[in-house]
Amino acid sequence: MSAQIINGKQISESIREELRLEVEQLKQNGITPGLVVILVGEDPASQVYVRNKAKACEQLGYYSEVVRVPAETSQDELLALIHKYNEQRNIHGILVQLPLPKHIEEKAIIDAISVEKDVDGFHPESVGNLMIGDDALLPCTPSGVIELLKRTGNHPAGKHVVVIGRSNIVGKPVSMLLLRENATVTICHSRTPNLPEMARQADMLVVAVGVAKLVKKEWVKPGAVVIDVGMNRLPDGKLCGDVDYDDVLDAAGWITPVPGGVGPMTITMLMANTLKSAKRARV
Ligand code: GUN
Repeated sequence: MSAQIINGKQISESIREELRLEVEQLKQNGITPGLVVILVGEDPASQVYVRNKAKACEQLGYYSEVVRVPAETSQDELLALIHKYNEQRNIHGILVQLPLPKHIEEKAIIDAISVEKDVDGFHPESVGNLMIGDDALLPCTPSGVIELLKRTGNHPAGKHVVVIGRSNIVGKPVSMLLLRENATVTICHSRTPNLPEMARQADMLVVAVGVAKLVKKEWVKPGAVVIDVGMNRLPDGKLCGDVDYDDVLDAAGWITPVPGGVGPMTITMLMANTLKSAKRARV
């Protein structure tokens, strides 16, 4: 039997519809959620991401600013910009598009963003809050994964979830979120022996390693839920995930396609974070 497809685009649209209604209400109370996206330099992929974030703001009726500064901008200049937006009351979320040019220390920039406006969820205090289960702005891609699971009726509670990848952006935070959802979580990575065997233990498999088509059908327990966070560009220019989709399709019970699975959720969760921050700022 072929797996059921988890349509991230459709789920993302229905979440945006929910957000739109909330934003309308908030606006009636005189608050418009505001997001600033800062782009340093002209990395082509980053330019696309930034444009899509601005478009999502427009679609939902947020106030948005996109600040484009040259690649030669100094760390101090960028820090000054962040401090300005930390103070600006009509801005509820600050996102500095990564990666940054080499002369700028990423950590110094992330640390400078006010934790209340940290809509990426990358600030050490946000990470700590996630870890101890306090109310935090959660990183966008991991919280998108949780939404995909829940909204397809695949509740992680009591399930054995194997996460392949241990990055600060996806692997580690998604593992913490899954634990919060009462899953039993195994984190695997490049130094894990017998990866296929480990993966095959999973009721739910989350893959975020950046290796095209790494996961084959032998890695998947029949009927398992497969969430592919990978986004790799093949030599022919096509996008593909970390899972060999065509190979795994008949083994999995549920699967996310690439593109159209996890990808669309990231910006939607950014919008959700900005709204959450705006609602908090009001009280
Ligand atoms: N670059 C690629 N993905 C992301 C993201 O989620 N947040 C930021 N700030 N930069 C990125």
